Amino acid sequence: MWSCQDSESRHYPSLLDMGSRGEYTERMTDCPDTTLIQADFDRPAAFSNDGWNHNSHYHRFLLKHVPQPCQQVLEVGCSSGAFTRHLATRAEQVLALDVSPQMIHLARERSQQYTNIEFHIADALSWEFPSDYFDCIISIATLHHVPLEEMLLKMKRALRVNGVLLILDLYQESLAGAFTSLAAIPINLMLKYLNTCRFREPPEVRAAWAEHGKHDTYLTLSELRQRCHMLLPGVKIRKHVLWRYSLIWKKTAAF
Ligand SMILES: C[S@@+](CC[C@H](N)C(=O)[O-])C[C@H]1O[C@@H](n2cnc3c(N)ncnc32)[C@H](O)[C@@H]1O
Repeated sequence: MWSCQDSESRHYPSLLDMGSRGEYTERMTDCPDTTLIQADFDRPAAFSNDGWNHNSHYHRFLLKHVPQPCQQVLEVGCSSGAFTRHLATRAEQVLALDVSPQMIHLARERSQQYTNIEFHIADALSWEFPSDYFDCIISIATLHHVPLEEMLLKMKRALRVNGVLLILDLYQESLAGAFTSLAAIPINLMLKYLNTCRFREPPEVRAAWAEHGKHDTYLTLSELRQRCHMLLPGVKIRKHVLWRYSLIWKKTAAF
């Protein structure tokens, strides 16, 4: 039933799909706007180890909010599929999208034993979301790459009644929140060391992510609350210690 880039995405790439310059031949040539984001994430894909990070720290929190039972889940911006694989243990079917061919390649490689996951290379902006279909839609650290209202509206329509939207993303700290942000620095160092046995990433990993971060912009929490309030009545937006917010919303009626 999946459309847009679906015809390409149904063909799962292997190393044989690599062109002479080492590029994957499974490309979204029809979505020029996403070229920058694709390149941005194809680069750090080489260093993606699915280990602990500021996003995965909240995986357990997010999983607790996945409705049970759960038939159909959509993950938008799945990267190498670390969270997708958790979802596969909580839902009958998981569909996971990412605009980066390298990330989807990794995700497929690492998820071969999961028969209930489908990974697609797709730009969530042009991908045709089905209506009233998913029991849960999840997106981690991806919403800031797309126009907020447009994406939330698509997600809202695609949820079934009683379906749950779960977002984890980054925000711009306000002056008032700067103190909590500072307090998070030692907590982050401690958690990082406990989980990875190091305080800093290797230089090549830092370089790849620093290059990536140049294009990122974030909203403050009050901007977010203002903009989501009308669109998602009753939405709960909560600030978390490691520079992330969560957005949780249950669709209580058909819109
Ligand atoms: C910062 S990463 C977060 C990845 C993962 N969710 C995690 O928690 O580690 C953001 C991901 O969103 C993907 N992405 C960005 N814009 C997208 C779009 N328009 N459609 C689909 N995926 C997108 C990127 O390719 C990247 O893999």
